[in-house]
This record gives sequence, C-alpha cells and structure tokens, in this order.
Amino acid sequence: MKKGWLTPLLFSLAALTGCGDSDWQHEEFSTGNSAFDFRIPTNTPAPFVPEDNPMTPEKVELGRHLFFDTRLSGNQTQSCGSCHLQELGFADGIALPTGSTGERLDRNSQGLLNVAYNSTFTWGNHSLTSLADQHSVPLFAEFPVELGVNDSNKEEILLRLSQDTTYQQLFAAAYPDSNPENGSDINFQQISQSLASFIRSMVSFNTPYDRYEQGDSNALTDSQKRGMDLFFSERTECFHCHGGFNFSQSTRHSKTVFFEAPFFNNGLYNLDGNGSYPVGNQGLFELTGKAEDKGKFRPVSLRNIEVTAPYMHDGSIETLEEVIEHYAAGGRAPTTINGQATGDGRQNPNKSGFVGGFELTAQEKQDLINFLKSLTDDSFNKDERFANPHS
Ligand code: HEC
Ligand code: HEC
Repeated sequence: MKKGWLTPLLFSLAALTGCGDSDWQHEEFSTGNSAFDFRIPTNTPAPFVPEDNPMTPEKVELGRHLFFDTRLSGNQTQSCGSCHLQELGFADGIALPTGSTGERLDRNSQGLLNVAYNSTFTWGNHSLTSLADQHSVPLFAEFPVELGVNDSNKEEILLRLSQDTTYQQLFAAAYPDSNPENGSDINFQQISQSLASFIRSMVSFNTPYDRYEQGDSNALTDSQKRGMDLFFSERTECFHCHGGFNFSQSTRHSKTVFFEAPFFNNGLYNLDGNGSYPVGNQGLFELTGKAEDKGKFRPVSLRNIEVTAPYMHDGSIETLEEVIEHYAAGGRAPTTINGQATGDGRQNPNKSGFVGGFELTAQEKQDLINFLKSLTDDSFNKDERFANPHS
C-alpha cells in the first residue's frame, strides 16, 4: 500500500462511513477563517478555528504567558505548565499527576502537540468539543482540584494579573477594547480564549516521517520504513484507529464538513467480566451511562509518542515495547495494577474487533517501535514560540 499524503485523506473519507465503535456524529459546522500563520506544510489542512475566537498573534502570546504562570492557580503553586512540560511534548512523564492542592487525578497528563486537530478533547469525553471549554476543567474543577480557581479567589487572581505591567500590555494588545490597568476590565473569558489560542497555535509537522512523506527518502531508516508498512497493515490494524495525517481517527480541521469522534475500547481492563474498568475511570461510560461505552477512549494521536510515556488514560503501560506487546496479545492478560486486579482485558465484551492480536518477530517489533519514534517532533519540543516566557 502506498502511504503518501493521499492515504491519510482516503482514511479520513473512509472514516465518514463510521468505522468507530462509538460514533459521535456532529452537525455540519462552519469554519472560522484566520490570518494567523500556523506554519504548516502546504498540503496539510489548517486547524479548525471557531468563529468566536479568531486566532491573533497577540492572544497567542498572552496565552503563552498565562499557560506558564503559577499566579493562575488559587494557591499560586501550579501552572498549566506544571503538568504539561515542553521537553516531554507537554506531557509530564508520570502516570497520574497531582493538582495544586494535593489531590491525585485519575488520568494521565496528555501531550499537547496538534491538539487543535482533535475532534474532542481529553481522553474520553464526547461533549468537550471546544478548547476554551476544556480549560475550564483544569482552571475551575473541584473533583479533583487542579489549578483551584473558584468564586472566592477569582477576583484576587484577576487582580494579581492586572497589577503586573507585562500583563497590562499583553491584555491591551490582545483585547484592544479592554482597559487592564483598571483591574476590573480583564476577565476569565479572555483568559480561557487566549489559552485556547496558544494551545491551538501549537501545531507542527516536522518529524522524520513528515520529511519522508515530503520526498526525502533518507529521512527514515530501513527499519522505520518496514515499521511503517507494519503500522499501515491489516496485520497490526494500528492505522484503523491511529490513521490520517495526525495519526488519530478522531480528527477535524478547517476543511472538515462532518466530523466524527470515534471512541474505542482497546482491552486494558475487564474487572467483572462484563467490561468494567476501574470505578470513576470508565471512559465514555462516565458520561453516557451506557454499558457498551465502558472502557471507550479517544484513539489519541501518536505524534510525539516517544516522549510522552507512560501510556494510556491512566498511565498504566510504561514503555512502547509493552504497548506493542499489549496489542499483539489482543489486550491485557490478567494482572494487578496498584494492587487492583485488572481482569482479562482480552475478553472485554466492548473491545474493538481491530484489537484481535497478532504475531511479530523480534525484528518486526523493533521495526514498529522505530517507526513510532519517527513521529517525534524534536523542533516542536524546543520551539521558542511555545517555551516558558517567565524562565
Ligand atoms: C494537575 C495537572 C494538570 C494541570 C495543572 C493542567 N492539566 Fe491539562 N491535562 C491534564 C490531564 C490529566 C489531562 C487529561 C484529562 C482527562 O482526560 O480527563 C489534561 C488534558 C489537557 C488537554 C486536552 C488535550 C487533548 O489532546 O485533548 C488540554 C488542551 C490541556 N490539558 C490544557 C491545559 C491547560 C491550558 C491548563 C491550564 C489552564 C492545564 N491543561 C492544566 C493535567 C493537567
Ligand atoms: C481499535 C482502535 C485501536 C487500534 C486498532 C489501536 N489503537 Fe492504540 N489506542 C486506541 C485507544 C482508544 C487508545 C487510548 C486507550 C486508553 O487510554 O484507554 C490507544 C492508545 C495507544 C497508545 C498510548 C497513547 C498515549 O498517549 O498514551 C499507543 C502508543 C498506541 N495506542 C499505539 C497503537 C499501536 C502501535 C497500534 C497497532 C499495533 C494501535 N495502537 C492500535 C485505539 C486503538
């Protein structure tokens, strides 16, 4: 099979027929046009930008300052950047992070490359389709607390920012109608819109794989080329869920007419033999309450996957080697994680038919891992445009 840029496009079309195990078909929507320069290759569609929050360099710059600023948390101990570290593709290297007041979260911190292309945000929430809405979770969530912004400290946080001359300039540039010196004139809507603009600006297609696709046949090693063939083969089935230009079937962009957001169960748990995952962390089921949604999560993008370990929604797989073994076995055999028996994930009734298991030689396994490593975007992980401006 030829894997040019066309192939991902064909997969996107195929996706319209709805091969997801849980399809959330959304209404047709209009695209916002934006003059912002995303610096993406000409043959790649621009991210979707909502009409109510057009991209401007000024909002992106304000968002970058806010993202890395601990003054944005109630007790001033954490910023977004505490759980999203640039050198780790904006993941954090640990299984489960802890919020600003010490509460542990149930989910693994996600890497933040090309987030703008995701159909839905976070690991398993079909209703989170707006980035600005997503940020209200780390900002305001109480169960568990992340940054811990609430009604009793909101005004104080706005005051902290508005008293800083740098923020006075940044807010005035991003929102020319506001009057930040006067304190009362900046608000959390501006903050979440600027954070969304910053996150949306974090797009990049500068990996060895991309260079290969653009014609540099030496950009991939022979092993990586073999691994690519395996990745896009019916033997491993990886591409059915992690296909397309962003290596995720859950993708939308400025030219998408209908977008779909599939969720899949890839056989990590089966606590009771009826498909259950650990309580409170059952993916889409937490929102829909439907038994068939137990264990269904977004097929996340595999870009930058080498640097965002540990893996899966709960960080329960440590290495890429173990990820491949997981899929080769057709799911997780009974074991214990944090003292809890997992059950036989291979037998989970909700498991996708694409996770059927396969056999690879040691060399083939290495080839597949090497291919996944060709999706690392070193330039992004060091790009000054996304770096902490306060350090
Ligand atoms: C305490 C750690 C922590 C903090 C602080 C934090 N995040 Fe996250 N972030 C996470 C976790 C965990 C997830 C996955 C959440 C889930 O699936 O429920 C996540 C998910 C995300 C996503 C979704 C990515 C995707 O691919 O869908 C975005 C965007 C994001 N965070 C941005 C932010 C921003 C902006 C802030 C600051 C306002 C922030 N985060 C603060 C831990 C954190
Ligand atoms: C049926 C769809 C499906 C198939 C097929 C599939 N995946 Fe996944 N993949 C998912 C889903 C869904 C998740 C998230 C699951 C979770 O966290 O509970 C995931 C997670 C991952 C992760 C962890 C991502 C992260 O950020 O932690 C890696 C790596 C991965 N898959 C690689 C592969 C490879 C390699 C193959 C082929 C051998 C493959 N996947 C086949 C759906 C699939």
